[in-house]
This record gives sequence, structure tokens and C-alpha cells, in this order.
Amino acid sequence: MFALLTQDPAKINYVADPAKAPTLDAFGQLPELASTFGHVDGLFYFTYAVCIFFFVLIVGVLLFSVVKYHRKTFDQPAASNVTHNTPLEVVWTVIPLIIVMVMFAWGFDGCMDMHYAPHAASQNQFKATAKQWSWTFNYPNDPSQSFNEVWIPVDKPVQFVLESTDVLHAFYMPSMRVKRDVIPGRLQTVWFHPKKEGEFHLFCAEYCGDDHSRMYAKVHVVKQSVYDTRPWDQWKDATPAEAAASGESLYKQICASCHSVNGTPSVGPSWKGMFTKQGENYVGRQREVVEGGAKKTITVDDAYITESIQKPDQKKVAEEPYVKNAMTAFPTLEERKIKGLIQYMKSLADAK
Ligand code: CUA
Repeated sequence: MFALLTQDPAKINYVADPAKAPTLDAFGQLPELASTFGHVDGLFYFTYAVCIFFFVLIVGVLLFSVVKYHRKTFDQPAASNVTHNTPLEVVWTVIPLIIVMVMFAWGFDGCMDMHYAPHAASQNQFKATAKQWSWTFNYPNDPSQSFNEVWIPVDKPVQFVLESTDVLHAFYMPSMRVKRDVIPGRLQTVWFHPKKEGEFHLFCAEYCGDDHSRMYAKVHVVKQSVYDTRPWDQWKDATPAEAAASGESLYKQICASCHSVNGTPSVGPSWKGMFTKQGENYVGRQREVVEGGAKKTITVDDAYITESIQKPDQKKVAEEPYVKNAMTAFPTLEERKIKGLIQYMKSLADAK
């Protein structure tokens, strides 16, 4: 169910933990994970049942007639010359009309319910920002952010305000039965009421460029008591080793899709060898960069890395394809997080 199809394993940030996947019922279907299931699955199975009923009825009458009334000899006269039966025609017009009206009303009711968030959901408002090719989440009444991973409390209606900073994306959570386009220049919203704890996927369901297929996020539905510990902001940086460990987990969330740490070339330059260790000190490497169209040599240091995170276009590595590739800017990334990333980059020089 949650298996990821053919992807470069080096580029997968995570896979959903099968132990946390919901148990399927006897028919291999998901349990009711969200309040939207009544609208979506209920209507789907109703439509499905109607289709099966009419398929059996029509094919049954057809086969019966073929067998019973087929012409047995060449000159056999017609069994009947009746061409119309008004009561029968009224019945087979009115009954299907009633059935499709039920489908319409059911669907319209579900559509309205999914479109207009109840008050409780709009009081529990998250923000999901889509950009090529990642998701950034903001929490209600909380200044911190998380990337490609979000935590929401179970059994509490939740609303996501959706924003795109570049092209069309779509917020698609099949396990919660919700999907909404994310449109640049417009705030869209989506709400649902998660009923069971677990880990679920959020996909981008609108083709948005090269790495569209890797634009997914993990959604943790957790108990309120777990949510209150703010699992998205477990940041330890008291010692250099702790800062490096926090930096490494942030690297995996937001940097690993474009920067390797083992020297493998990718969308962006590898972080390997940015610093070397001399005694107790980390010494930055020399690097050719292009700034304002001019080539120059700089020494990698904290200020250069900070600038490259906040304003990546300022100095670009003077090497193909890095000169032409554009990096996503993180102008609002907190200082302690930038420090953690730098500490992790330095720790790569430690003898392992
Ligand atoms: Cu974003 Cu597809």
C-alpha cells in the first residue's frame, strides 16, 4: 500500500514505517481514518453496487432473450410485434433518474462539507507551502517550521492553508480522502478530521517539473500529548556533536535531495570536503565561484555557507552544472538551524 515505486534509493528521504500503517479490513480496505470517508467511500460503494446490480440485470435479460427468443428456423415468424410498452419505459426512466439524483445529492453534500471547514478546523490551522519540490509546514501559534514532514493531533479537525511559491502543485492525501490544487497567487484551503493515529503520505498530485514524483511528505497523526512535545522541533545544539546530529537530520529533510555527502555529483555540489580538519580546527576549502558575472576564488567559511542558504544565487560554484542550476533559497531558516547544518558539514571532515 505504501510501497514507493522505482525511485533512486539514494534520493529517498524516508519510507513510511509499515508497522505504523493502518490495519486493513477483511476486504483489504482502509479503516475509517477520517470523517471524509463517509462521503467518498460511501458514495463510491453505492455507485459500485448500482453498477453491479444493473450490469447483472441487463446482461441477464439479454442472455435470457438470446437463448429463449433466437430464431430457430429461417422462416420462423416473429414471436411478438410489440414495439412499445409505456408503463415499462416510464419505470426505466424514472428509477434511474431517482438513482442518479441520489448520487448527485450525496456527492454535492460531500463536496460542500469538504469545501467549507467547520469552526473547529479553522481554529486549528496549519500552513503548507509547496515549491519545486518540497513541502514546508507552519504550525498554529508556533513560530517553527518543518520540512517534508508534519505532525497533527488525532481526533481534532484540522485545516491546511495551501500556498505555492512557484508553479501549480496539488495537496493529495489519499488516506484522508482529500485533494486540493495548490495555485500560485491564491490561498486554497483543505480540511479533514483524522480519526486514527499513524503515518500517512502526502503527495503532490499535479505534474510540477523534474522531481514531481519525489515531492511527497510524511504526515504523522499523533496523540495530543505527543503533539504537545512539538516533535518537529527536537533540536539539540548544546555541544558541537549535538548540533551536528540535529544538522544531519535537517540535511536529510531539506538538503539531501540535491546535495550528497559522499562526493557523488547531484543537482548541487557535494558537501564532501567542504572543510578539512587541522588539529582541532576545521579549515574551509578554496572554491571558484561566480559573483555578479565575475569569477573569483573564495574560502569556504560560515558566512559563505549562510549566504548560500539564504541567497543561493549570490555566489554560484563556477562549475557545470552548478552555474546554471538554481537552488531553493531559505531566507527565513533560523540561525541555530543554519549553524547546525554548518556543524554537520564540518563533522564530515572528522575521521570516522
Ligand atoms: Cu509539486 Cu508535483
